[in-house]
Amino acid sequence: MQLQTSTALITGGASGLGEATARLFISQGAKAVILDLNETAGRALESEFPGQIKFLKTDVASETEVQNALDIALQTFGNIQIVVNCAGIAPARKIVGKADGIYGPHSLELFEKTIRINLLGTFNVMRLAAFAMEQNEPNAEGERGVIINTASVAAYDGQMGQVAYAASKGGIVSMTLPVARDLAKSGIRVMAIAPGLFETPLLMGLPEEARISLGQQIPFPSRLGKPSEYALLAKSIVENPMLNGEVIRLDGAIRMAPR
Ligand SMILES: NC(=O)c1ccc[n+]([C@@H]2O[C@H](COP(=O)([O-])OP(=O)(O)OC[C@H]3O[C@@H](n4cnc5c(N)ncnc54)[C@H](O)[C@@H]3O)[C@@H](O)[C@H]2O)c1
Repeated sequence: MQLQTSTALITGGASGLGEATARLFISQGAKAVILDLNETAGRALESEFPGQIKFLKTDVASETEVQNALDIALQTFGNIQIVVNCAGIAPARKIVGKADGIYGPHSLELFEKTIRINLLGTFNVMRLAAFAMEQNEPNAEGERGVIINTASVAAYDGQMGQVAYAASKGGIVSMTLPVARDLAKSGIRVMAIAPGLFETPLLMGLPEEARISLGQQIPFPSRLGKPSEYALLAKSIVENPMLNGEVIRLDGAIRMAPR
């Protein structure tokens, strides 16, 4: 799949990994539609790249909001060939522990919210976008589209306090193969990236000392990943027709410790 002739729908594209992907993709001639809740950041990107980026304030977990966004995206750019799902939240809470000063069981509401945004949101965007992509004319390889989801190394080495996050990301890992199989006859590939530790607003909120110490835990290169490096892998996945049904760890060989 060529970026130059494609439109990419990027959820969570107003910040971090999704924003870096949008910037790289449009530098290669693609168009990008960003679905995010952060209106200020989304509008700023849209006005930085008029005609190339369209921002649509959308909750990925809402059926009607995602369908509306897809309809507008299709009206604006004709069709969508690429989906990159980056929208997500990362709460920290142990299954039994202290929250807001009170010791007790993990809030069911927080668990449900994490699954709803990270897992159900990814599924919701995939199913509606795949249905639209099936209408695309196939390219010479027979490809109609590419979907890239964002898991996490927490799907494999979840740390203390990551039960909800790890469960949501494990679900994303597990969806990869069956969805790739479901969409194979339509020429739509499905991949996932499992990032390690990346320098995004999420981690930039930590003191510099903590960021350096986290970076030093990575075997090589011993630093936090750059969002542009995530974007580079997303670009390779789009361009390489043989990549399908797989999850790629992008983590400098880190295996997370229990805490
Ligand atoms: N940064 C890392 O080290 C790291 C590591 C592993 C996995 N990830 C995953 O990568 C993805 C991107 O993370 P990031 O670090 O760029 O974070 P980020 O906070 O910079 O970006 C996430 C974006 O998702 C948006 N979002 C949240 N809930 C949403 C919803 N319901 N609907 C639409 N948009 C919503 C936020 O507004 C934000 O702009 C997440 O899924 C995260 O779990 C990040």
